[in-house]
Amino acid sequence: MDKDTVLFFDTTLRDGEQSPGATLNVEEKIEIAKQLSHLGVDICEAGFPIASPGDFEAVRRIAKEVGSLVEGRKSGQPMTIAGLARANKGDIQRAYDAVKVAPRHRIHTFLATSDIHLKYKLKIDREECIEQIIETVSFARSLCADVEFSPEDAGRSDPDFLVQALTEAIKAGATTLNIPDTVGYTTPEEYGWLIRHLIEKTPGADTVIWSTHCHDDLGLATANTLAGVQAGARQVEVTINGIGERAGNTSLEEVAMALHTRPQTFNLNSHIDTTQITRTSRMVSAYTGMVVQPNKAIVGANAFAHEAGIHQDGMLKNQQTYEIMRPETVGLTESRLVLGKHSGRHAFRVRLEDMGYDNLSQAELNAAFKRFKEWADKKKVVTDADIEAIIVDEVYQPPEIWRLNHIQVSCGDHSMPTASVSLTGPEGEEYQDAALGTGPVDAAYQAINRIIGTSNKLTEFSINAVTEGLDAAAEATIRIQPDSGDGEHGFNPQTNRPFARTFSGHGASTDIVVASARAYLSALNKMLAAREEQASVVAQTAMA
Ligand code: KIV
Ligand code: ZN
Repeated sequence: MDKDTVLFFDTTLRDGEQSPGATLNVEEKIEIAKQLSHLGVDICEAGFPIASPGDFEAVRRIAKEVGSLVEGRKSGQPMTIAGLARANKGDIQRAYDAVKVAPRHRIHTFLATSDIHLKYKLKIDREECIEQIIETVSFARSLCADVEFSPEDAGRSDPDFLVQALTEAIKAGATTLNIPDTVGYTTPEEYGWLIRHLIEKTPGADTVIWSTHCHDDLGLATANTLAGVQAGARQVEVTINGIGERAGNTSLEEVAMALHTRPQTFNLNSHIDTTQITRTSRMVSAYTGMVVQPNKAIVGANAFAHEAGIHQDGMLKNQQTYEIMRPETVGLTESRLVLGKHSGRHAFRVRLEDMGYDNLSQAELNAAFKRFKEWADKKKVVTDADIEAIIVDEVYQPPEIWRLNHIQVSCGDHSMPTASVSLTGPEGEEYQDAALGTGPVDAAYQAINRIIGTSNKLTEFSINAVTEGLDAAAEATIRIQPDSGDGEHGFNPQTNRPFARTFSGHGASTDIVVASARAYLSALNKMLAAREEQASVVAQTAMA
């Protein structure tokens, strides 16, 4: 155990995916896991394998396909792949079966310890809780050398009872003890005190790694996590962009940059390659449809923008006047080359490589270059932000079951908005239809619905300009909820309840209606792929 290194445990694919609407399919989870590996995450909680055959499959494939990657990782080790399990043998066995192919794997099991949870949720007393911890942690340890135990709702548990429970967890074989502030209730002072108290009072504390797991209900998740680190925790449980249940989890980028920017305060290392932060944030936002607020620390669009004249003046004189971190440190690049319609494929590729997109396939590069040329025809200058929007739109997309060929709308304050749409279908055939709507976007969506014949509810729609200026391209993000159907329910391990899944989609274009139509098709393609994925998992399970 290196006392000077903080391990990053990323739970974007588990707690993060529990955010309403952040549904990810298996391929997207694998892509995100690969990027987390590039970023230098130490432990990746890949999911909750008992939740459904699809969740099991996603964790198993991440363990198999991502669990051995070491190239470029600061730690020189592959990520540990963890699977979550409630404290019962069925869940634990299932988690183990999903992660065991990874060279480094972990079972993460949890049981609530607060009186509120024991009485109302679990309906057991403290004694039964301790017995269950001993039985299930021992069982997990009989399968796997790396076992994490979390006393759920530790933030509201009796500290003395926690000491008792954690002492038994250590004796039963836990190697990491994670202290969740499940409902985001504590303050930094209280949370730091709790971690210090548990480390001081629990026999065997120095044989395990102590971990923080904070939720952001009071906006204190990062502060609590850092207080926990200062009190001796050496693992932090975090998500990209802070996504997660309700107000979300502690965000990885905030903790990583606090450690990086304030070495005198923390004097601790991590294996995170901070230059991969922006890219990871964009990928997670695109795949989950969770738009990052512009003023979000580190990864928000305004995080490095200086608007006020006095700030700009100071920045020109000396960057340190108003800047505590360099944008390059988090992977934000400034264009040295101006790209326009005369720029060729080579210049485009070089620019992409400079921006960190150095592992695109030939097909992705070709598609991105084609879009770049289309945009360059319409805009004078294509900026880095535009290029990033093109990549997000072209690359971070589900497989295209339906593809948009053309869309034409007519609208205004004297006519009924009308859209005619041409799509290419699953077998490569072309379909056309037209529809009226309350506005141009509604008309476009109605025309698409007439062709595809699915029914769903649009639950969220947002459109943002990629850059400043009247010629700015637009990025649309939407969320739809299928009216019904199998495979469209997730399962929340903490509430023990299924929840209705929603599907997000995103699209970018120099035309807002086209961006909106692309976003809609992206969400529909995700929904249709989830149905197919579910049907095939069910068929395989029936055959087995
Ligand atoms: O917030 C929480 O308590 C959790 C546990 C499952 C670790 O996510
Ligand atoms: Zn949590």
